[in-house]
Amino acid sequence: MTVRNRAVSRRARAGLVLSCALLLSACADDDGAARRRMLGEHPGLEAALRVADPRRGGRLFGQCAACHTVGPGAGDRNGPNLFDVMNKPVASNSPRYGYTAALGALGGTWTPEAMDRWLADPGKVAPGTRMRFGGLADPLDRADVIAYLQSQSAASAR
Ligand code: HEC
Repeated sequence: MTVRNRAVSRRARAGLVLSCALLLSACADDDGAARRRMLGEHPGLEAALRVADPRRGGRLFGQCAACHTVGPGAGDRNGPNLFDVMNKPVASNSPRYGYTAALGALGGTWTPEAMDRWLADPGKVAPGTRMRFGGLADPLDRADVIAYLQSQSAASAR
């Protein structure tokens, strides 16, 4: 993430804190209800990422953890280790891992946009992928998980 993006998201967060102050009770729970109300029903990825919560994303990652580790240097499970996966070329994050041809053929890098599409429906993005995961239907859930993946990176550790 660039410094400028961080500044923008800090401002968005300040706005969120303000709306939380106005909505008090809504923000007591941590299911993203207040953010959802703020974003409307079909938020764009950029809007969702501006208010994304990496800590909640970390909890949602529980759904991924059966198949993925995310710590630096951690081993592969059914799926590859995901430390620092954002902005890496697709099907490359864990050199030891045997990726399917289906994922290998996808090409490109794991931009937030590509990750958003993948997490919504992996089987649709790369038919034949070994990632048997129904997908995260909620755009805010996906944004939170993407923010979490961004936080699990060499750049964030610096
Ligand atoms: C049931 C097991 C399973 C679950 C659950 C799962 N994955 Fe995966 N994932 C895989 C497998 C297997 C692959 C390798 C796919 C291939 O080679 O076709 C993969 C690949 C990936 C990749 C590509 C990595 C690279 O190096 O290009 C990403 C990113 C990813 N998963 C993220 C997630 C996230 C985030 C979640 C949770 C929201 C999740 N996965 C849930 C099994 C799973």
